[in-house]
This record gives sequence, structure tokens and C-alpha cells, in this order.
Amino acid sequence: MKRISGNPYLKKKEGALLIDEVLLNEILKTYTTPVIIFLENRVRNNINTFLKVFKSVFNNFQCLYSFKANFLPEICHLVQSEGLGAELIGLPELKLALKLQFPPDKIIVGGPYLPQELIEKCIQEKIKEIVVYNMNDLIRINSVAKNSKIIQDICLRINTQKYGSKLGIFLNQSNVIKLKKIINECENLKITTLLSHYTTQMNNIELFIKNVNILLDNTKILSDAGIKIENINLGGGFPEAVIMPENQLREVAIEINSLVSNFEINFKNIYFEPGRYLVGDAGLLIAKIIKVTDNRWIFLNIGNHICPKFAKSSMRFYNVTRIEEPHKFKTSIAGILPTDQDVLAKDYFFTYDLKEGDIVVITNVGAYNLTFSNRFPYLLPNIILVKNKTTKNIFNPLVNSDFSIN
Ligand SMILES: Cc1ncc(COP(=O)(O)O)c(C=O)c1O
Repeated sequence: MKRISGNPYLKKKEGALLIDEVLLNEILKTYTTPVIIFLENRVRNNINTFLKVFKSVFNNFQCLYSFKANFLPEICHLVQSEGLGAELIGLPELKLALKLQFPPDKIIVGGPYLPQELIEKCIQEKIKEIVVYNMNDLIRINSVAKNSKIIQDICLRINTQKYGSKLGIFLNQSNVIKLKKIINECENLKITTLLSHYTTQMNNIELFIKNVNILLDNTKILSDAGIKIENINLGGGFPEAVIMPENQLREVAIEINSLVSNFEINFKNIYFEPGRYLVGDAGLLIAKIIKVTDNRWIFLNIGNHICPKFAKSSMRFYNVTRIEEPHKFKTSIAGILPTDQDVLAKDYFFTYDLKEGDIVVITNVGAYNLTFSNRFPYLLPNIILVKNKTTKNIFNPLVNSDFSIN
């Protein structure tokens, strides 16, 4: 059977689409389009590949799943069951992670906005590290830690200096002096880790090398200033697993390891925070053509509200109704938002015949699509989880009304 979109859990079978071991046509007997499908076995498979590769290359590696990529409780539960830790940005995610029994010593929390309640919860729950993007937050964390009589481990996110990057601390001379002063005054904090996340969808090994070098240079700057860093965190940024096969992932890991091992400081731990790699190609969207124009534009019954450009997913489109026909005729694909900006793809290679009612599958929408989805007064899609021959409805818009976490 031929794979679709390079995904081993998506296959053509006698003119039909097999999703894990379930025929799409069977699913469409119960659910109308649009419907979102997640592949449990693909999430587990991606986690195992990532762990296998990185464990074989590093002996001090830890993997923390970046919840923001996909915070559906069922997906986070799968990740927890495979033993990964969690990288979180806010209180709703922290509450979810604790409910799902991620151990606090495998959770790190932080970001550009640290409300007081979040800091207090992190300290009360003894989470492993708080990630700080703004130096002044150190003073606020210290005061809560002091009240609780604990020493809180801190990870500093550094600014990568990539063009336009505003996130993290830029360690120039004056900021290093300021940081030293704050650290001296904050007796209840221990700066243990430095984090650098370069960008998303890093398809090129050079980007990983850049990120490591930035992190090592900044570690040296701090070390020269008398601030010793024990661990480094290289963030995420891996593309979907179908885009970065195992051998390429291994090359990246080996290159990172060689740069880190040749550095003058030995680190206790190296953390990675993948999001997209683990879940991106485990998500599919099933939609329907609702209009065809003379100049080969098709309109689907979904749009940028659930398939947002911000997600930067490597979306691929297939006409499942005509799955055996060649996909080599340029077609443009629009969504159903009443704006001309709702374009999903331009001049995409698709089938020659285009008919209203044709079923279209969009692959690689498992990461950031729901995260960046926005309100539009259409009904949200059902979300189902497929594993082997079984399907489970994990979100029903008529009952659950919203898939957000609170
Ligand atoms: C600090 C940090 N870690 C991890 C991630 C996850 O990135 P990805 O899903 O590209 O692996 C992000 C994404 O923005 C991030 O900002």
C-alpha cells in the first residue's frame, strides 16, 4: 500500500484512504466534515524516534514536550505516558500538566509573561525550573521563593539576536552587570540553565549549529562574569517528523553533540523542547470542496480560523475522492472566511477533476493549528483520536463547546 504524505499511518488502499487501520469512509459515516483526526500511534512513534536518536547520541539528555504545540489533554496524556517532561508557558497548561501527573521535577514553566499566580503555583508545586525572559521577573520570583523559604532553580532565556527577535535577555555588557547585581540580591534563586530557541521549522542543520553557538557564546559570557551555568536548553524548532527523517535527525544530534563536547565547560544536562516534531504529522484535517471556479480555485469548508498561517505547518492537500488520480494540475485553495485573505495554498498540484463534494485531506496540521486558531462564528470541528482499529471522539463542539484549557 502506498503511503500518503510520507506518513506510515496514512495509506492508499484500493482507491480509499486508510488512517492507521480505519478507512476514512467508515469515519465519515459517523462524522461530517470538517473533522480533525489525531493519530495516537504516530505521536508515540515520533516520541520513540526522538528519544532513540537523542539517547544514543547524548548521555545527559532530557526531553520536555512543548505543550503549546498541542495542548489537547488526550495528546498531552499520550506524551506523559511515554515518560517525557513538559515545557509550559502559563497557568492553564501547568494545571493540566499536574492533573495529567507529569512529575513536577520534569516540568519547566516560563515565558514572556509571568503573572503572580503562576509564579506562586510554580513555587508551591516545586516545579523544576522557572524560565525567565525578562530580568526584572527574577526579583518577583525571588520574593515568592523567599516567602516559601526555598531556593528556586532558574533558566534564563537568552535573546538569539536573530533579526527582529525581541524574546529573551540580550547579554550585552550593561545587561550582564545588571544581571549580576540582581543575582547577588536574589538569595533565593539559583541560575542553573541557559535556554536558546532559535526559530520554528528548522529544516537546515546550519540553523541548529547557529543556535548551539549562540548558547555556548552566551554561556562563556556569563562564566567570564562569574555566573556558572550547569545545564543548557536548546529549545525546539524541529520540523514535522515526515519532513525530517530519522537519519537527518541523527545528523543534527551528532553535530550538536560534537559542538557541545568540544566546549570548555561540561554540562550536567542538555534539554530539548520539541513540539512540532512530536505531534505535527499526527494531525489531519478532513474537509470538503464547496465551490469550484472556472480558473481552478477550490473553496473548502474550513479556513484560516482552524488552519491558520501563523501555525507555519507543512500542509499537504490530497483529493481523497480521486486519490488514484495524478495530483499534478495547478489549483488554488481558499477557505470559507468571508475575506479574500483566506487562501490556504496557491498553485498547488492537485487533481485535474475538481467537483463540489470531493473530500480533501490536509496533512501535518497536528502542531500549532489549534493553538493559533481563532474565533469565527462557525461551528468548531469534531476532533477524533484514531488508534489501530479504534476511533474516539475527544472533542464534540455540540457538547464541549470549546477545546481551550482553563
Ligand atoms: C522556548 C521554546 N521551546 C520550544 C518550542 C517548541 O518549538 P517547536 O514546536 O518548533 O519544536 C518553542 C516554540 O515556539 C519555544 O519558544
